[in-house]
Amino acid sequence: METIRNFCIIAHIDHGKSTLADRLLEVTGTVAHRDMKAQLLDTMELEQEKGITIKLQPARMQWKSFELNLIDTPGHVDFSYEVSRSLEAVEGAILVVDASQGIQAQTLANVYMAIEAGLHIIPVINKIDLPAAEPERVAAEIGQLLGVDPASVSRISAKTGEGIEALLDRLVAEVPPPQGSIEPTQALVFDSLYDGYRGVILYVRIMHGSIKSGAEITLIQSGSDSLAIEVGHFTPARVEDDILTTGQIGFITTNIKSVQFARVGDTVTLSGTADVKALPGYKKVQPLIFASLYPTSQDEFAKLKDSLEKLSLSDASLTYTTENSAALGFGMRIGFLGLLHLEIIKERLEREFDLDLIVTSPSVSYEISLTNGSMLTIEQASALPDVSTIASISEPWVKGEIVTPAEYIGPILKLIIGARGRQTKLEYLDPTRAVVGFEAPLAEIITEFYDKLKSQTAGFASLSYEWDEYKPGDLVRVDILLAGERVDSLGAIVARSKAEDFGRDICERLKDLIPRQNFEIAVQAAIGAKFIARTTISAVRKDVTAGLYGGDYSRKKKLLQKQKKGKARMKQVGKVSIPSDVFMQLIKKGD
Ligand code: GTP
Repeated sequence: METIRNFCIIAHIDHGKSTLADRLLEVTGTVAHRDMKAQLLDTMELEQEKGITIKLQPARMQWKSFELNLIDTPGHVDFSYEVSRSLEAVEGAILVVDASQGIQAQTLANVYMAIEAGLHIIPVINKIDLPAAEPERVAAEIGQLLGVDPASVSRISAKTGEGIEALLDRLVAEVPPPQGSIEPTQALVFDSLYDGYRGVILYVRIMHGSIKSGAEITLIQSGSDSLAIEVGHFTPARVEDDILTTGQIGFITTNIKSVQFARVGDTVTLSGTADVKALPGYKKVQPLIFASLYPTSQDEFAKLKDSLEKLSLSDASLTYTTENSAALGFGMRIGFLGLLHLEIIKERLEREFDLDLIVTSPSVSYEISLTNGSMLTIEQASALPDVSTIASISEPWVKGEIVTPAEYIGPILKLIIGARGRQTKLEYLDPTRAVVGFEAPLAEIITEFYDKLKSQTAGFASLSYEWDEYKPGDLVRVDILLAGERVDSLGAIVARSKAEDFGRDICERLKDLIPRQNFEIAVQAAIGAKFIARTTISAVRKDVTAGLYGGDYSRKKKLLQKQKKGKARMKQVGKVSIPSDVFMQLIKKGD
């Protein structure tokens, strides 16, 4: 144990965690230079493509006579649950800060989490090779934040490799070795993965004791028994070992086939050991937004349900229930941690499970108190009961922080007020950069807030936020009607003061998004029986080939085929066919 060091890498998005992880693997000889490709730990195709880390990823390295276990974590706010789980499995954290950007909102959020987890933090300034690097200024900022001497902040370039060896030495010298006893065995499941061929693979940190390959194991909370078919470590590929011992991070391949018996946060012990307690595990994560996924063909509903169950094993934050909509049939209502999370899950389901999906507009959850004294939580506008039975509607609020150059404080305060929020704090990191604390309704933050923040601050401001509490608001439901029929999945609960603008905006946008059909379509927005906006999609002539003169049959056929293909991505809602991506398009307001 004395020679083990466990740590994770935390940072704001794009400050260079994955690149640093690459360099550490290379300098320690874990991965040979010729096998090196950028962002080695971003193993998912989607991660490589988008250049962002979505999932935590462990890897073991050897440095001098020490065994180092690192966990690379995602930087985007939607995935901070991955960070919080990693923090419980390690004793130290490398805090990476971009030398040209300095401290950003997610840097602060990560530091608070690491301090709360009691970790030793090693601050590192990355990208010192950049011409725009300002290591002295950034070191002063970090020094102030952590209460340390700015000179003690490491300076590296994950790109050129400068400072990496010194950082490894520093890790060994400063991160405390893990503590633990020889028995009884307790291993924390900090992540898990479903492998179609092998079953459930648990990512574990052995807190006490050890687990041999072939051992019979029990997951204490779920009560399920299994065989440790293989145990081993990550390089980041899975490498088999004979045994995992106290303090180590590694994996256990199990013969558990059903995902509900292998939740993250559970504790693995050896079967038959008496009175072993479960480790504290993790707090249940709170989904921030809800949206429904429907298969474009109802035959695929069972496949969607099954795929989601499998995916939820590698994404412990997913919560879902079955639902049935008059317009779209059977689907799944899913809780997400943010819009990026929603987009990623949709893409993973489509790519990894070969599904074709419709996503409805996301909504936050609402707490409704009824005149008869009872309470109701709803996750979509259509579930709102009759207004005459409602005493009040409460919506979720977040508290957040924005890190910004000082000259943008004015516009940012305006933006916060425009989002029905209020400023709670103003602190300076240095004379030119400030942290604005605020609280606001979540529904406002998930829509346009981030895009507006970026555009009004030339991209310089960064944002982090977290769930706070439900607060009552003056809210109404705006219904959307297509050709006179209410379309449940298009309605939304909005602030009364913004309802008319919202209704007008949706009607205008639907007019652009829904192709003309062979009858005129009225697009209307209404609050109760009162119409607040209307647009009209005029009719188109039925035969698309009518305009082609002459008897060129093959050309005519081609055109009809093209039209048919276009239809495949359409969905019939009442009388009207709408493109299956219309709901996603509606969210992307800025585009
Ligand atoms: P997420 O995991 O998505 O939060 O990002 P990350 O923190 O892992 O950042 P990543 O390693 O993907 O790096 C972001 C960008 O910065 C990439 O384009 C890297 O090539 C670049 N980068 C990382 N380290 C350095 C460095 O030391 N110098 C320079 N010039 N660029 C760097």
